[in-house]
Amino acid sequence: MSIIIKTEIEIEKMRIAGRLAADVLDMIAPHVTAGITTNYLNDLCHDYIVNVQQAIPAPLDYRGFPKSICTSINHQVCHGIPSDKKLKSGDILNIDITVQKEGFHGDTSMMFFIGNVPQHAQRLCKITHEALFLGIEQIKAGATLGDIGHAIQKHAEGHRYSVVRDFCGHGIGRDFHEEPQVLHYGKAGDGIALEAGMIITVEPMINQGKHATKSLGDGWTEVTKDHSLSAQYEHTILVTETGYEILTLRQDER
Ligand code: MF3
Ligand code: CO
Ligand code: CO
Repeated sequence: MSIIIKTEIEIEKMRIAGRLAADVLDMIAPHVTAGITTNYLNDLCHDYIVNVQQAIPAPLDYRGFPKSICTSINHQVCHGIPSDKKLKSGDILNIDITVQKEGFHGDTSMMFFIGNVPQHAQRLCKITHEALFLGIEQIKAGATLGDIGHAIQKHAEGHRYSVVRDFCGHGIGRDFHEEPQVLHYGKAGDGIALEAGMIITVEPMINQGKHATKSLGDGWTEVTKDHSLSAQYEHTILVTETGYEILTLRQDER
């Protein structure tokens, strides 16, 4: 298998899928508050994707994943399963949305603050968001995957955080996960060179403590081994000759 260079027709479909995924985050934002459950958020997103967008929530039944979105709270790193547990003031929550429309995928995630979130947790989220964009800013034809990883790692470790190694970004298109793997650490100039027409996700997971993760018994939820807080932001991005186009920009980012 190799990296798929998208045609202009495919790119147009990826723009639509990306826009829909971003729209789900915009739709759900006002509902993310203390006292509600992540199952409730899952159900709202599911119904919106299926009935309003007439699209498919890609996580549902993906390798047996039981829900339509991923919700990862506090020390959960990624792939958290929505449940009947209530969100409480002080929690930080990542919601990860992947939508499939006309056979193409858009994948994006962001952090939400529940009630009053401590400064240190807000700071983790801010640095993670900055790291995502520093990584994205490396993207153009001829740059390498190592350039992206290096920019992210430098920013995170410069603030004495760590970069999760066990999960990475990915190519995306007709398949949810395509080649290449996009590591969020590395050396500038290392790895394959990007080409115009590639579409990848960048989705750094940054921990307050050590980078090690472990899976919970539910077969999906990944947590930090040391139980320190973890944050993540994700965008789906088209590589162009001169730079990049973010396909999953939300309203406030457009
Ligand atoms: N959306 C995640 C990613 O960014 C993958 C979730 S897989 C699932 O790659 F099965 F947990 F949904
Ligand atoms: Co992804
Ligand atoms: Co995702």
